[in-house]
Amino acid sequence: MSGAAGGIGRACVAAFLAENASVAMLDRDRKRLDRAASELSGHGKITVVDLDITNEAAVVEAVRHAARDLDGLDGVVNSAGIDRVEPFEETDWAVWDRIMAVNLTGAMRVCRAALEPMKASGKGAIVNIASAAGLRPLNDRVAYCASKAGLIMATKVLALDLAKHGIRANAVCPGATDTELFRQYLGDATIEDVKTHYALNRIGTTSEIAATIVFLLSDEAGFITGSALAVDGGRVFH
Ligand SMILES: NC(=O)c1ccc[n+]([C@@H]2O[C@H](COP(=O)([O-])OP(=O)(O)OC[C@H]3O[C@@H](n4cnc5c(N)ncnc54)[C@H](O)[C@@H]3O)[C@@H](O)[C@H]2O)c1
Repeated sequence: MSGAAGGIGRACVAAFLAENASVAMLDRDRKRLDRAASELSGHGKITVVDLDITNEAAVVEAVRHAARDLDGLDGVVNSAGIDRVEPFEETDWAVWDRIMAVNLTGAMRVCRAALEPMKASGKGAIVNIASAAGLRPLNDRVAYCASKAGLIMATKVLALDLAKHGIRANAVCPGATDTELFRQYLGDATIEDVKTHYALNRIGTTSEIAATIVFLLSDEAGFITGSALAVDGGRVFH
């Protein structure tokens, strides 16, 4: 799981451990990673790797290490992501490139590195965490929205390409979910303002996103592949 030290990532790890899964936690933030791992370690088997998912060699090595340490690999979740709010006229191309490198290419790197161990397991499931912002445009977020829309389409292509190996691939598209990243990008808005855009008149919780991902990874979701599931309280149509 990439982005495992973050708000949604950590909730996913807790939910996977509750299902008796063993989990590899990948994140670039060593401090948050160690804190999350020590809080969760009593609940099941965890292996921890700090890395930047834009670094190909580090990703390949981390996935190899995880598959060895956990006796194989049958699921991948990409939660690592970054955001930036800025008017299009002021687009900083270095920031644009970084957002694409993490949100889109980074997720694909992790998927590709996990392919051989998943093939060896005889089955596999991928869940890439995109965003409601990949389905519906938001002002001043061109790089973020484009990276998440790209991740949704890339995931659909993986669903086609990998079906022959028994590997499913789906995207989850959360709406506003209460995490550090979300609060960082609230700007001048308040949670009360944000809620008004949601049919359910509230923002989501990390455990609601995690529960959806647990389902998509499970055998109960065995006929679901290539979907982009909005978990967003009705944001995309409201
Ligand atoms: N919170 C929301 O409202 C919301 C809504 C829609 C989509 N999302 C998406 O869900 C995912 C998780 O978001 P979150 O709210 O938990 O954010 P978060 O900032 O709490 O977690 C993201 C994690 O990704 C890690 N990360 C960032 N760049 C990385 C890199 N290059 N290599 C390795 N790790 C890296 C960070 O260290 C962090 O721990 C993101 O992809 C985000 O775009 C979040």
